[in-house]
Amino acid sequence: VVPLLRPEFDLERPSDHEQLATGSFDVVINAAAWTDVDGCAQDPARAMRINGVAPGLLAAAAARGGSLFVQVSTNEVFDGRQATPYQEGDAPNPINPYGASKLEGERGAASIGRSVILRTAWLFGPGGPNFVTKVLEAAERAARDGTALRLVNDEFGNPTWTPSLADALAEVAIEVLAGLRDPGIVHLAGQPPASRREWAEVALAAAGLEPPVESVPQSAFPRASAPPLHAVLAPTPGTARIEWMDPTMQLARAAAAVRR
Ligand SMILES: NC(=O)c1ccc[n+]([C@@H]2O[C@H](COP(=O)([O-])OP(=O)(O)OC[C@H]3O[C@@H](n4cnc5c(N)ncnc54)[C@H](OP(=O)(O)O)[C@@H]3O)[C@@H](O)[C@H]2O)c1
Repeated sequence: VVPLLRPEFDLERPSDHEQLATGSFDVVINAAAWTDVDGCAQDPARAMRINGVAPGLLAAAAARGGSLFVQVSTNEVFDGRQATPYQEGDAPNPINPYGASKLEGERGAASIGRSVILRTAWLFGPGGPNFVTKVLEAAERAARDGTALRLVNDEFGNPTWTPSLADALAEVAIEVLAGLRDPGIVHLAGQPPASRREWAEVALAAAGLEPPVESVPQSAFPRASAPPLHAVLAPTPGTARIEWMDPTMQLARAAAAVRR
């Protein structure tokens, strides 16, 4: 595995993309993006350059090197108004500039060579802040302030544990290289789908916290970029099942132990 990072590799500097055309890689995975969704809403042109235009250029460079290209994309290409989970062929309809830029990136990557468009959602992993650690911090703050913990109950998604996602992605790439699977759109996301509140409650219970909880709609937290409310992904048949409950509990227990 060869990580290509800034400052040597910048998505906004097309000359850097030539590093992908050397023929040294079986698979090139673009996991980089401008993921500050509110920043994307304030500067949609920059979002389009990084998330929209760069993936097509990367895919072209990877194709020149004979590599399979994987573009990591998002459930936010959907509007979240569908009651049932989205399948690969459902029509995207982004409702914010981040989603629009990621959809453009999908289209650019798909139009060139052999590309896998990997849609995922609600990532959390070991190390660094994530939804689980933020919920525990918010619960402690609420306890200190004597207030209820406000949890969103009308936004649904797929919490996805990144180590499991990496394994599932590697399997898909190997199958495509071996000719056992066609390139194209793949949904890899944690199961079962959950609301933010349901996900938070699993973490709180594992950490042994029982704060008073108030259910609120997502609109109680106004942002520059509103997320889709029900952009739940149906996992692509024949891919590894990704579990989120056990990793959430383990992460929450470890975070609680560090705090004690
Ligand atoms: N997080 C989620 O819940 C979620 C959900 C669905 C899909 N996704 C997708 O999954 C992928 C990874 O997301 P993430 O949450 O891991 O993102 P992240 O933590 O924000 O990491 C993004 C990475 O992209 C790099 N990057 C940003 N702009 C760049 C540029 N111009 N040139 C080179 N590198 C650049 C950043 O580098 P620096 O460290 O140097 O800034 C950072 O390492 C993205 O494609 C995202 O759209 C994420």
